Amino acid sequence: MPTSITPSEQEVIVKPRRQPSLNTRSVQITLQLFLAAVIAPLTFSQTPASAPPDDSAVHQRADALLKAMTLEEKIGQLSQLFDFGKSKAIDDAVAKGQLGSLLFVTDPAEINRLQHLAVEKTRLHIPLIFGFDVIHGFRTIFPVPIAMAASWDPSVAVKAQTIAAKEARSVGIDWAFGPMLDIARDPRWGRIVEGAGEDPYLGSAMAAAQVRGFQGDYIGAPDHILACMKHFAGYGAAIGGRDYDEAYIPETLMQNVYLKPFHAAVKAGIGSAMSAYLDLNDVPATGNRWLLHDVLREDWKFTGFVVSDANSVKSLQTHGYAKDVYEAGLDAFKAGVNMEMALNFTAYSKSLATAVERGQITAQQIEDAARPILQMKIRLGLFEHSYVDEARAHEVLATPEHRTAARLAAQRTAVLLRNENNLLPLKKDAYKKIAVIGPLADSQMDTIGSWTFQQDLAQTVTVLGGLRNKLGAQAELSYAQGVQIQRKFPSMFDAIFHLKKQVVWTAQQAKEEMAKAVTLTKDSDLTILVVGEAQNMSGEAASRDSLDLPGQEEKLIESVAATGKPVVLVLFNGRPLNIKWAAEHIPAILDAWYPGTQGGNAVANLLFGDAVPGGKLPITWPRNVGQVPIYYAHNTTQAPQNQGKRYWGEESTPLYPFGYGLSYSKFAFSNLKLSRGEIKPGESIDVSVDVENTGATSADEVAQLYIHQQYGSTSRPVRELKGFERLTLAAHEKKTVHFSLGNDELTYWSTATKGWVEEAAVFDVWAGGDSNASLHANFNITK
Ligand code: NOJ
Repeated sequence: MPTSITPSEQEVIVKPRRQPSLNTRSVQITLQLFLAAVIAPLTFSQTPASAPPDDSAVHQRADALLKAMTLEEKIGQLSQLFDFGKSKAIDDAVAKGQLGSLLFVTDPAEINRLQHLAVEKTRLHIPLIFGFDVIHGFRTIFPVPIAMAASWDPSVAVKAQTIAAKEARSVGIDWAFGPMLDIARDPRWGRIVEGAGEDPYLGSAMAAAQVRGFQGDYIGAPDHILACMKHFAGYGAAIGGRDYDEAYIPETLMQNVYLKPFHAAVKAGIGSAMSAYLDLNDVPATGNRWLLHDVLREDWKFTGFVVSDANSVKSLQTHGYAKDVYEAGLDAFKAGVNMEMALNFTAYSKSLATAVERGQITAQQIEDAARPILQMKIRLGLFEHSYVDEARAHEVLATPEHRTAARLAAQRTAVLLRNENNLLPLKKDAYKKIAVIGPLADSQMDTIGSWTFQQDLAQTVTVLGGLRNKLGAQAELSYAQGVQIQRKFPSMFDAIFHLKKQVVWTAQQAKEEMAKAVTLTKDSDLTILVVGEAQNMSGEAASRDSLDLPGQEEKLIESVAATGKPVVLVLFNGRPLNIKWAAEHIPAILDAWYPGTQGGNAVANLLFGDAVPGGKLPITWPRNVGQVPIYYAHNTTQAPQNQGKRYWGEESTPLYPFGYGLSYSKFAFSNLKLSRGEIKPGESIDVSVDVENTGATSADEVAQLYIHQQYGSTSRPVRELKGFERLTLAAHEKKTVHFSLGNDELTYWSTATKGWVEEAAVFDVWAGGDSNASLHANFNITK
């Protein structure tokens, strides 16, 4: 490794400006010389922070850096390690330039300390990029991603991820491992909570919105961070819903369903991607060149970089794909993984230099792999602003507007599943005594959901807390947990969260707690039951063989209902659960998902009518687990008239269809009009429909547009979502909604022709408030 620096190498040394350190002066002079002599024409550092850096300046600067770097330094940029606390091994590796990135460091002082090591100790002063799982908030926790999708309002996701980005960036995190774009049609899979549900169109809209929220107008925008689409690709189709298991995805579903949100994220300008854990069609995703190169780079022209999932490079050996760790590193590298994420050491650090020596890969390939990583560091301004202002971080994290935004988001994401005889909204003065029952009713952790590490639990409002805030002395609130719920096998995250182990009740205690819940119910005018899954029952490594309510929750619901008192059920969940009994016997059911930091206040507002539910299901809700997988966009097959009677013992229709959700008002759709009856491929049709709020309450409805191609070179789904808009309508207000159907909406991947086609056919069009919409029209595409 050369120890002296040549004049041309000097040109690429740029020193951070904020929080200058010991030898600042000499390096600032270097910087000035550099700016005057080399950078001035490129005007990179002159670029105002509010404008994107010039592409060619970024490229030239990265190329100049690469020219100055040794092979080892370039390989160093390709390694990323977890850092769960100070460690000498990590410090040494950073100081030697053996790491390009760290993840899981969240303390701004520690980030600054590590960054000082990288910037001051390494020969070319290349800063680290700090990554973290910023999934639905950082300090302020927003509703989980499946809930954001249930808002059917991309602006909710833009806002949530904008705030998440700002909070994360304030502590020095530059890179979010989100959004998760895996389509999931099997709710047994725990990670369904992290995505947008079952549909590629809604998934694509939420993908683009999250990219926009995380990255802002451009990569490097102030207070924003780099986004990372994951898990590329097909992870949501894990067989049996078992996390990490293999998936077999046919070409038609891969192209028309699973890849769609990823392509949308690329079109939205996402700067990084994470390869998935799964073994996809017998070629693990992390070693899958078709995915990482042919699709991502060749077809989609992705110019960012790919990071592996944690240890997924070494897992290529575990999968029985690579012979050993050395080969695993080589396979992932050749497939197109730029950076390896690992726990203790990377396979790249063991394989790549030797592989170059042996002629298995070239030094040029290493340089090409490092280039987009350096480009992102440049775009993010890490060379100029390597350090964070710790005082500002505290301010940003304490911003009250962020909590307000979280509450508004939770109000927009809840889905009203049932409301017999308009039990909801509740009247504030109608109930003197309210029983609040259930294991999730007063649990902060369970209110915010999984993938939260930096939350402020003291600031987290449970449903009980929210009701207290709302009602004050107006009503007497009593609380009983009723039942305990727990996993049979503990979650690996419990240790990370430092969750206290639950002391399990004795049989006698369990009986008494259940009895207490029933007594409180009997003694009240109204009961609000909060049940569902604890936060560690939903997320990574949280798959299930059942969708039943955990533990004795079902019994709790039935016992409480047996008192004959009015009961409102609030669900906390990241997946549809088996609520078949409740759906027939409990008059009001509100799905709050995991609503986040302000969840309790949001639920209280919704229950008492200070907010009106307008969310819609982003996933088909089955009656029971035996129906899984069940999704609305299936094909028409033999005897479609019996589609709802495919099982002899149970309806095969869902409990609630995709797109479903009630309101405190009612809506009518009418006047579905197409601008033309016939188009040629490539042309567009304007579709309009009138939506009227026929009730007396201002409320939201989501206008949804579905199509069906009646025949073609392959058979097509019975319905496909191709447009939606969430509207707020005053009482009795009517609005006309316009959609456009063009090439993007009418083209699909045909397995018959092995290409994207827009075919001559008759198309059905439906508009309405869910995927069973009945208002119908049709048009033709002719050649
Ligand atoms: C593994 C998970 O699959 C991935 O989603 C996450 O970003 C990484 N671990 C880092 O925590």
